[in-house]
Amino acid sequence: MDAIELLLTRQSDSNLSFPGPSPTQLEIIKKAALKVPDHGGLTPFRFITVEEEGRDKLGEIYYQAALKEQQEQRIIDRAKALPQRAPMLIIAVSPYQEHPKVPRIEQIQSAGCSVLAMQQAAFAQGLSGVWRTGYFAQSPEVKKQLGLDEKDEIVGYLYLGTPTVQCTKPVRHKPEDFFSSL
Ligand SMILES: Cc1cc2nc3c(=O)[nH]c(=O)nc-3n(C[C@H](O)[C@H](O)[C@H](O)COP(=O)(O)O)c2cc1C
Repeated sequence: MDAIELLLTRQSDSNLSFPGPSPTQLEIIKKAALKVPDHGGLTPFRFITVEEEGRDKLGEIYYQAALKEQQEQRIIDRAKALPQRAPMLIIAVSPYQEHPKVPRIEQIQSAGCSVLAMQQAAFAQGLSGVWRTGYFAQSPEVKKQLGLDEKDEIVGYLYLGTPTVQCTKPVRHKPEDFFSSL
């Protein structure tokens, strides 16, 4: 797949099955995560890979956090199953650092670029993925159990695997609706 085809066809898939990324594919995904714009060279991103029994551990963290933070029963009931929706997850974190020139939003944007870069690297290798957030990205208890600081941001959970259905999504947006000239 050439670069332009990747940029114009990348899509997310929620229905993901085994196999997940091979070690070689994962290495490329990791390198892509680090090849992103980064104001001040702060490297404001860290990643936690989750697979095999790690998915059970993450489900347990979600479950305990939802109980402790008194979430709705619907969220508690689903918590343990959420990480089982793909063979691998990569948790992208932006560990916030005070900086005179690089505000928090720019650090988070940089980590967000990493998520997209990893999704693109997966897609280009015949895999697919979906970037998710929701309550478990905001939960202080989840952050604590993952060893993160309160000020750190969980920028996303990138679910990765093999798409179970091969379907190309139609193009939804037209450039003229979003671009204007000055
Ligand atoms: C920061 C961020 C958080 C997201 N969180 C979720 C989520 O929790 N659940 C979900 O189904 N989609 C979420 N999405 C949207 C999907 O990742 C995806 O972009 C969307 O389904 C559109 O699909 P496409 O990428 O194929 O256009 C999120 C996207 C972003 C950028």
